[in-house]
Amino acid sequence: MNNYHQFDVVVVGAGGAGLMAALYASKTASTAVLSKLYPTRSHTGTAQGGVGAALGNIEEDHPEWHTFDTVKGSDYLGDQDAIEFMCYEAVQAVYELEHYGLPFSRTADGRIAQRPFGGHTNNVTGKPVSRACYAADRTGHMILQTLYQQCLKNNVNFFDEYQVVDVLIENGAAAGVIAIELASGEMHVFHAKAVIFATGGHGRIWEITSNAYSFTGDGPAIVMRRGVPLEDMEFFQFHPTGIYRLGILITEGVRGEGGVLINDKGERFMEKYAPTVKDLASRDVVSRAMYLEMREGRGIGGKRYLYLDMRPETVNKYAALDGRKRPDGSPYVVTGEELLAKLPDIVDFARTYLGVDPVTQMMPVQPTAHYAMGGIPTNKYGEVVIDEKNTVMPGLYAAGECACVSVHGANRLGTNSLLDLIVFGKHAGLRAAEYSQGADFQKLPADPTEFARQQFEAIRNSDGDEKAYVIGNEMKSVMFDEVGVFRTEQGMNLALEKVRELRERLKRVRRPDPGKIFNTEVINIWELGNLLELAEVTTISALARTESRGGHAREDYPKRDDANWLKHTLAWWDHGQVRLGYKPVVITKYQPKERVY
Ligand code: FUM
Repeated sequence: MNNYHQFDVVVVGAGGAGLMAALYASKTASTAVLSKLYPTRSHTGTAQGGVGAALGNIEEDHPEWHTFDTVKGSDYLGDQDAIEFMCYEAVQAVYELEHYGLPFSRTADGRIAQRPFGGHTNNVTGKPVSRACYAADRTGHMILQTLYQQCLKNNVNFFDEYQVVDVLIENGAAAGVIAIELASGEMHVFHAKAVIFATGGHGRIWEITSNAYSFTGDGPAIVMRRGVPLEDMEFFQFHPTGIYRLGILITEGVRGEGGVLINDKGERFMEKYAPTVKDLASRDVVSRAMYLEMREGRGIGGKRYLYLDMRPETVNKYAALDGRKRPDGSPYVVTGEELLAKLPDIVDFARTYLGVDPVTQMMPVQPTAHYAMGGIPTNKYGEVVIDEKNTVMPGLYAAGECACVSVHGANRLGTNSLLDLIVFGKHAGLRAAEYSQGADFQKLPADPTEFARQQFEAIRNSDGDEKAYVIGNEMKSVMFDEVGVFRTEQGMNLALEKVRELRERLKRVRRPDPGKIFNTEVINIWELGNLLELAEVTTISALARTESRGGHAREDYPKRDDANWLKHTLAWWDHGQVRLGYKPVVITKYQPKERVY
């Protein structure tokens, strides 16, 4: 058969999770990676500030403290067995990256450098702890390059610029995927014993986002159409410091190095909201504080932004007030040169996109849609689980941002996403390879491309007059305003109505360019369909959850409600309608408490 390929394991996506999965699977199984991008352009490359691991290179730290901070950061919705697993594996995982050749920044005595990040604390004093292992402000970029080199060395088969559009499920097990080769427009069948989704997030639903254009939720949308539920989709993280109007990330590492948020009155307002850790509270707390400041008229010039100030004189002033010390006990004092060396990309971004030099000027920032806590439900081995009882679907795996293990619960701590993708990417790869050794290929249907072809024929033959970019903009705007940092029933109902209207309008989109070679117009329409479906699932899951927890802040239900809502949402896509179910949170040793930072 033309365009037919067979591998033990097929990995969809070539970011950190996909490459780590491929690296481990390829040790014992024939492995292919399919990516809609050239692998080193994957979104992991934009991750800046660090990967979390309690190495204790700068000061006392422990995997157990990391575990507790992650549970607390998750607003107690994270599964504690999985969190413990991740935080204890973290130390070894970071040393493994070092041994693969990752050029981490170094301490004066040559160890991996670490910096403070939001929500990571010394569990005794409650003060910020240096846990983020970093390579300047290019940590994700370095992980991506390092893992790609390792995969090439290990003879992983890469299919670059192949857009996966469907997963094949036969006899209740994964059987392969269908992909479009972008260069030719041809559909290909990849027959596999195991399929690992590692397609990243779906932040392109929102108007202001740090996410790449490629983050269109393909993996979750594909598996959802085949009957797999999505977990905790109402929880989407807004990172406090996106570049004003553009959303591009300004790393939390800026605040880790001593930068502070400032309002129109020149106040360091986080002192009010999180008296102990201040600007290094968890992201949900900081983003909400910023919204409240702006709402109360203290945005800069009354507008929807605040300042992030990393000028050395400001950093040094607040470090002295906070009593911050260097590891040798001397006062924490920085110079412009030091900040430039530690945050070179941030300086470059601020100069390029804002026309601001952050060593001498303040940066205008606003919260930006950043990270999906929800996604394809998995256990800690990356196996996809498909119901309230955590029944495993044989041969189907997910890792990284598209998956929900759930280690982030209602709010992820900074640095835990790079950690998540290396730990769970590895285990998904190992499990998938092990499974493939004992499994047969499922028999494929007579026409495996049928479902995918129907979707693309509908797009190519559409003859309406709707413009996809207008539909996309309307979705982004209503989702940002109504299903963003703060939410209400009324606003979310408005968003739901709009998203449903837009899904109908997308069926009447103007007929796209008929060409086959690199027809990104057709692909973009299909991606927009993914985003709209996920926007609907997000909104329905959020409407049902009548409480506030982590990244889901409802003005009409401002309190966390453990009696009724200490549970994970599952959302099924039943013939275009969303059906909800719930499953318990795994609590091992940390009983839910009020979060105080
Ligand atoms: O702020 C940052 O550097 C982002 C890190 C993360 O999302 O983990």
